[in-house]
Formats: sequence, structure tokens, C-alpha cells
Amino acid sequence: MNRGNMFKHIGILTSGGDCPGLNAAIRGIGKAARDPFKMELIGFRDGFRGLVHDRTIPLEPAMLSGILTNGGTILGTSRDKPHQMPIGGEIRDMTGSIVETYKRHHLDALICIGGGGTQKNALRLKEAGLNVVTLPKTIDNDIMGTDVSIGFDTAVGIATEAVDRLHSTATSHNRIIVVEVMGHRAGWLALCAGVAGGADVILIPEIPYDLSRVADSIRDRARAGKHFSIVVVAEGAMSVEDVGLVQKMLAEKNAAKSKTDKKKASEQLKELHQRHLEHTLRLTERLESLTGQESRLTILGHLQRGGTPSAADRLLATRLGTHCAELLSQGVTGVMIAARGDSFAPVPLEEVAGKKNLVPPDHPLLQSARLVGTNFGM
Ligand code: F6P
Repeated sequence: MNRGNMFKHIGILTSGGDCPGLNAAIRGIGKAARDPFKMELIGFRDGFRGLVHDRTIPLEPAMLSGILTNGGTILGTSRDKPHQMPIGGEIRDMTGSIVETYKRHHLDALICIGGGGTQKNALRLKEAGLNVVTLPKTIDNDIMGTDVSIGFDTAVGIATEAVDRLHSTATSHNRIIVVEVMGHRAGWLALCAGVAGGADVILIPEIPYDLSRVADSIRDRARAGKHFSIVVVAEGAMSVEDVGLVQKMLAEKNAAKSKTDKKKASEQLKELHQRHLEHTLRLTERLESLTGQESRLTILGHLQRGGTPSAADRLLATRLGTHCAELLSQGVTGVMIAARGDSFAPVPLEEVAGKKNLVPPDHPLLQSARLVGTNFGM
């Protein structure tokens, strides 16, 4: 953590997948930075790409008004990485151009609002000599070191409402309805929306499932007179067999001696990943044949990332944003500003980058869910 002089010129970008609450954070930072802290704020468009091409948005007061409640990001975003950016048909390391842009604008610090990938990229820029501060955002809520990330609460609300709505149609038709929610590696969204919506089965990446156990629990429900079931599935949930297959392939890849064998193992893994994209469709079909109950699939997809942020996300983004401006006014950089209870903590980027906050097996919410009869496929 560096403590330097008071900063004057600050750059800001949003990077990675968008989510509700980004504009609230930009507004919080911008308003506090300008007054009382007398800092100039300049926005870079479309994530790290904006720094490479020096594409900016001057964040005048008018730009910061009326955006608190808007979804998306006025700065635009992308998943571009500074060190591996597609430029003119090639993948290039553009860190040097980013450093040049930073210097050209006489920036004292750069704020990156983003998810797990952004934390890693921010650390790389820190290592390249830039003063960087990050804010955690992702509907997946899987960033290490923070209680919660911007966008998560809204996504939980959207997914919960979907589960609520699917209940009435599932009941009317005596169907199984499988709902796929986002979350490749972390099951927070599926777990929270599943528990809040009273799902009967919740499948998350952290708990490999056995489909026959899921089918058993649905048949038990039918025997008890409940002829519908809601199954919430995180997009990265995997069966015990698939987890075994991935582990075997990873071991083969690590053990491969020749380049050809390594390439073959990587291609097999890629193929498995491609097949996984249709995982919930196959799961729905198999549940239908195992239980004999008509089944339907709903994929919520990017609906979970769109639209107006919840009140909780507006509050979190505003508080994180203003705190960010405050810390910068004190010259603090090299950190992610984490939410901790009602307060905040600057966490060194080294402690966040490359790490994931997954649902721990002993999380109290898992226990509560089990106690109300939720099945996790085991
Ligand atoms: O930003 C996180 C996330 O929404 C994940 O939950 C999801 O797997 C992924 O992004 C989708 O990414 P994209 O919008 O690039 O398809």
C-alpha cells in the first residue's frame, strides 16, 4: 500500500462484464472527487482498450447527473486484457501503450471497477508502475476479500423474481422447471436466489451433483403430493462424473511430455467446456426421463446483468465510490476497496488478484437450505 501526496488527476474505467450499479459507483467517485476533494476525473472508454487507444470521456458534472439509477456503464466495458489484447488481428501486450496514455494525461492514479479478471489486470498495471485502485463488481460475488460486490444484490433479486414467477406455472402444469442462472465457478447467485425463491433443488459448481439423487428427491416430492419442482442450476454446476473427467483431463495435460500431447489434452478440455454449454438442457431432458415428469428449461442469461440497480447496490456503489475518492485524496493506491460489514477496508491487490471466493462447504446458508429440505444433488 503506497501513501503518497494528495492526488489531482484521476482516470477511471469499467472492465469485464457489466452489471447494475456501475454508474452509481462512477457517480459516487466523480461527485466526491470533484468536490470536496478537488480532483479532476477522466473516463476511459470500453475498459483497458480505452487506455490503449486513448479514447476518453470527460466526466463533467453533467455526465454524473441522472445516472444513479441506470444499469450498464456510461464508460462502456470490455473483457480486454492489457497484456493480451487483440489488435489488428494479432494478440499483443499493450501495457506499454497504457503506461504512455497514463503519463500523457498526467494521471496520479487509475481506478478500475471490475471483477476477478480486472483485479489481475490492475495488479499487472501496478507492477508496471501505475498507481491503481480497484472497486469490486460482479454478479457472481466471487471476488476475494470483500463481503459483497456491486451488482450481486440486483442479480439475486432478478433471479429470485424469476424463480417466484416460475413457481406458479410449474405448479399449474405439474412440471419440473430447471432455471439456469449465471456463475461459472461460484454458486453464490444460484444459492441465494434458490434459497430466497424456495427452490427444491440447487446445483452449484462447488458441490458436484449426482443426478439420480436429484431425481430421487423430485420423486419423493411427488409421492408427498407435490407434483412440481423448481431446480436452480448455476451455469458451472457439474455432475460427479464430469468433475472426474475434468480432473483426469487436467492430470493428462499436466503429465503430457510433448507439445502435441499437451495440445491434444487442451483440445479435449475445450471440447468438454463446449459441451458444458448445453449442460442444463441435457440435465432437463434426463430429469424428465428419470422422473417421468414433464420438464422445461429457462435460461436467465444476461437478464441478470441488465436494468436498474437495487437500492442495496446503489448504496454499496455510492459508499464504495465515495470511499475510493477519500482514499485517493490521502494518496492510498495499490488496493481494492472491499466492503466489510457497514465499513470498508483497502485490501492489497496482491491478496485479491488470481483468487476466487467460492461457496465454502460449511457456509451457514447451505445448512439452512438443507434444513428447509433443499436438495443439492448429493
Ligand atoms: O460477469 C460475470 C458473468 O456474468 C458470469 O456470471 C457469466 O458466466 C459471464 O459473465 C458471461 O460473460 P459474457 O457476458 O461475456 O458472455
